[in-house]
Amino acid sequence: MATNRTFTMIKPDAVQENHIGGILHMIEEGGFRIVSLKKVRLTPERAGKFYEVHKERPFYNDLVNYMSSGPIVAAILEKENAVADFRTLIGATNPAQAAEGTIRKKYAKSIEANAVHGSDSDENAQIEGDFYFSADEQF
Ligand code: CMP
Repeated sequence: MATNRTFTMIKPDAVQENHIGGILHMIEEGGFRIVSLKKVRLTPERAGKFYEVHKERPFYNDLVNYMSSGPIVAAILEKENAVADFRTLIGATNPAQAAEGTIRKKYAKSIEANAVHGSDSDENAQIEGDFYFSADEQF
């Protein structure tokens, strides 16, 4: 069942360059309600666990190092059709292919340092949100 929720992270490059506010503004302007919000720094172990599905990919080790290199902002977002609409708002994984008006077009630096993460399914949105927020932090 669709939950109308998705999960996002503002990644270390975007946090480092003071884009938290700009990105949250685009998210709210895009019609999303911020349900839960937290700034944290992942250990390499926690980053590795979050991206476990990519463990066999050639970019996995670099991704883990990058995602634990500085603080990130984690958030649960709510909107009708949240997962698909958020992926439209953030644009393609590779910013070179991201459409005009998307978050990655504006803020991403590379395919790895691509400013934001967005869940790819309702099931993963639930798993990823639970990774950062306990049930009583989600309103
Ligand atoms: P994200 O949407 O968070 O999911 C996996 C992440 O791996 C991706 O964004 C990028 O930050 C990173 N990544 C690095 N290289 C690649 C690649 N070649 N293809 C896909 N994702 C990559």
